[in-house]
Amino acid sequence: MSDPPDSLIADSLIAAARDAMAQAYAPYSHFSVGAAILGESGRIHAGANVENAAYPQGQCAEASAIGAMILAGDRTVREIAVMGGQAGDGRLCTPCGGCRQRLREFAKPDTPIHVCGPEGLRRTFTLEELLPHSFGPGNLDF
Ligand code: THU
Repeated sequence: MSDPPDSLIADSLIAAARDAMAQAYAPYSHFSVGAAILGESGRIHAGANVENAAYPQGQCAEASAIGAMILAGDRTVREIAVMGGQAGDGRLCTPCGGCRQRLREFAKPDTPIHVCGPEGLRRTFTLEELLPHSFGPGNLDF
């Protein structure tokens, strides 16, 4: 069976990020974020931000999605969609610095990161664009 076209994959990733965003637990920031990862198996792994009354213990949507991916047995981020903000506000909910590094563990320099708002895709970056000169698993090979 052939793979579905890229446009269908992107649509399902964005839909999964939207569903995840709706499940966010963000009572402190009121800023819900959803993330959906396409793993090497072709499956989608989603996560939402999970805040905490002890603020620094909150978890980003990307970290939740990576946890779901690992639990499901995938080890490679082929693409990720991240959704946050209000429809049409135009601001980019780009992954935070910590999440760029978390993604680096399982992604390649050219892995697409789709930054979305509730209305859909706003901009696609590569991991290398968001985290140049990064430190990854290869840096520990000696
Ligand atoms: N947040 C994410 O979940 N992912 C991002 O890429 C940016 C920020 C969350 C963390 C916190 O719960 C809320 O958004 C406001 O910073």
